Amino acid sequence: MGKMAITGATGQLGGLTIRHLLSKGVAAGNIVGIVRSPENAGALRELGIEIRTGDYDRPETLAEAFAGIEKLLFVSGPSMDNTLRIRQHASVVEAARNAKVGHIAYSGIAFAEKMKLGLENVHLATEYMIRTTGIPFTFLRNGFYLEILVNEGLKGIAASGEIVTSAPNGKMNYATRNDLALAAATVLAGDGFENRVLELTAPEPFTYDEFAAVVSDVAGKPVKHRAVSPEEAVRSMTGAGVPEGMAGFMVHVVYKAIEDGQFGHASRDLKQLIGDGYTTIRQAVTEALNA
Ligand SMILES: NC(=O)c1ccc[n+]([C@@H]2O[C@H](COP(=O)([O-])OP(=O)(O)OC[C@H]3O[C@@H](n4cnc5c(N)ncnc54)[C@H](OP(=O)(O)O)[C@@H]3O)[C@@H](O)[C@H]2O)c1
Repeated sequence: MGKMAITGATGQLGGLTIRHLLSKGVAAGNIVGIVRSPENAGALRELGIEIRTGDYDRPETLAEAFAGIEKLLFVSGPSMDNTLRIRQHASVVEAARNAKVGHIAYSGIAFAEKMKLGLENVHLATEYMIRTTGIPFTFLRNGFYLEILVNEGLKGIAASGEIVTSAPNGKMNYATRNDLALAAATVLAGDGFENRVLELTAPEPFTYDEFAAVVSDVAGKPVKHRAVSPEEAVRSMTGAGVPEGMAGFMVHVVYKAIEDGQFGHASRDLKQLIGDGYTTIRQAVTEALNA
């Protein structure tokens, strides 16, 4: 097996993918963690993997980072500036082409052609750039992280007995970050994924009513979903301490997209790829409420 590299290795998705690769039996000596900030790579070094510097804003670092790499997991950058992000991603793809990387797996966004959030343009542009290289690819089109709903705040929400949104009917196809990392590791460690586009979402999207019912059941107390106007949803969030910008984004972008049906598209790709490793909403909620 040739060397495989993971960009954004100090990040959550990259770090989890590396741990799944090791669990699958990939030798640490065959894994390269590519990081922007080597000073943050202490925990990765302890895993015995090689660390290389690769900064999307400094293309000269990427040439060295990709030397001798057979398979690359290119984790999309986190910048909120989508125009800048396309330039960063172009640098990564160009460097991978010049280094003659054998296979590029790219973490994009699920059902990109059907999304209207704006950030899908970055992922589609990047996918097309990768196609221009002629390098075999796997597009890991990730659903939104379930952690948006299931996080350390869930205990407080369960205690309050109420989930307030402005998304009365729309469905969500969210999947856990850890499952998406397991999917990425499965593709990197496996064969036969060349030139595939994988839509990595929950196989059965769910509404906020259904989510509240699971939380209620797991918590063993009534938890109801209450749909309100967007203005009231923003007020409810900021009242609970969510910064105004984030509350506005959740309500006017995310809830709106949910109601538009943009997160309602389903695929079995993730379930097929990771099988029993798939985390159901109930499992994720149980883990969060018992943490
Ligand atoms: N599906 C979703 O719901 C969702 C949600 C949020 C984001 N995303 C996307 O998925 C990606 C991975 O998610 P995540 O949870 O792993 O995010 P994360 O924990 O924020 O990790 C992002 C990684 O990108 C690295 N990075 C930032 N700027 C860079 C640059 N100029 N050059 C090289 N590396 C750079 C960071 O390095 P440092 O450690 O040096 O900062 C970090 O390792 C995100 O970057 C974003 O594109 C998806």
